[in-house]
Amino acid sequence: MLHFRKSDLYIEDVKLSDIAKKFGTGVYVYSKKQITDNFEAYRKAVKSYDSIVCFACKSNSNGSVLKLLSKLGAGADTTSGGELYRCLKAGFEPSKIVYAGIGKTAEEIEYALKSKILMFNVESIEELDAINKIAGKLKTKAKIAFRINPNVDPDTHSYIVTGKKGTKFGIPYEEAVEAYIAAKSRKNIILSGIHTHIGSQILDITPFRLAAQKVKKIVDAVEKNGIRIEYINSGGGLGIKYCEGEAAPCAKQLADVIFPVFGKGRKFIFEPGRSIIGNAGHLLAKVLYRKSAGGKNFFITDAGMNDLVRPTLYGAYHEIVPVKKTNAKKVKADIVGPICESGDFMGKDRTLAMQEQGSYILVKCAGAYGAAMSSQYNSRPLLAEVMVDGSKAVLVRKRASYKDLLLNEI
Ligand code: LLP
Repeated sequence: MLHFRKSDLYIEDVKLSDIAKKFGTGVYVYSKKQITDNFEAYRKAVKSYDSIVCFACKSNSNGSVLKLLSKLGAGADTTSGGELYRCLKAGFEPSKIVYAGIGKTAEEIEYALKSKILMFNVESIEELDAINKIAGKLKTKAKIAFRINPNVDPDTHSYIVTGKKGTKFGIPYEEAVEAYIAAKSRKNIILSGIHTHIGSQILDITPFRLAAQKVKKIVDAVEKNGIRIEYINSGGGLGIKYCEGEAAPCAKQLADVIFPVFGKGRKFIFEPGRSIIGNAGHLLAKVLYRKSAGGKNFFITDAGMNDLVRPTLYGAYHEIVPVKKTNAKKVKADIVGPICESGDFMGKDRTLAMQEQGSYILVKCAGAYGAAMSSQYNSRPLLAEVMVDGSKAVLVRKRASYKDLLLNEI
């Protein structure tokens, strides 16, 4: 949805420099159309099988983003009581909400049971016992899927590999069948599905296929023991294109590797986060100062690592473009923020037109794990968020104030 009209960069029908002037910078800007298109691509890809597309709201938990997706018919993948709260507020049907995470507290389990969510993705026998006990106390039954660690290498940043031996996630592949058999004796548990999530920003479809094939073997063995697996949840993880030359598989390619492994007669759950919201959101910032030091050029912007931590944390690449094309000569520069750490950068050694003080730049594809992972480090209030719909730009989260920084302090 980003395109130039003459020399100005637009998102849908709104000029980005107008957004900067109206709402200030740094600011996260989302395209309603892009979110909708991304979700529709999933819907279309899965429509011939009984499926729920559960948006992984950890990637972006802005209420307007969530509301839009719930209205489009998405379910939600949650990972904490707080996420469940946001999703219920945003109108997701509890019967389309799944709840994953290796450290669910008793309070969170109780909240999820009372909210009548579809099911828990369970990561250990101790967690299963906690859910069983709390369900008993509430005189209810808990639907669960075991999250299996299939020991497949998704070839992504080590911090976001989750389906490999040695990570903290899931029940080890070799112990999966045993776990299902053991769970039969827990009387407040309904064994309903099987879950895997092998990692994030995965650009090759093969690991998804390998994981599905391994999961199918478990399903067959479990069903031989008289346990019916109704739901197959393949998690999220589909990567997106962050830079030129990168190619990302699409929802249809993912569906086409998952469905044939299991066939008809089951229900499927997908948990995409990044591939729904990643390229639908961008971080707009202002160049405060330019400087040269130690043989390098720096553009210092008003957005920093507290606003977008991905470059610092994962060495992630986000394309950075000026929102106005000029004839200024090209320079190589680091685009950095105002935080007191050398790790505070949006991009290093980027070639772009020399920027004027006060010009605006766009850090692209920051919709996933951008605002959601932002913090107030250096006592910097959280940024505003804006949703664009055609020619309208609407504030969907106010910029926090200095007063907000002191909220809850005693
Ligand atoms: N399901 C589960 C159980 C997950 O843990 C995740 C992401 C997803 C689904 C969604 O994955 P996606 O489709 O967004 O790849 N902060 C990191 C990414 C962390 C992913 C955590 N789990 C980043 O900025 O790259």
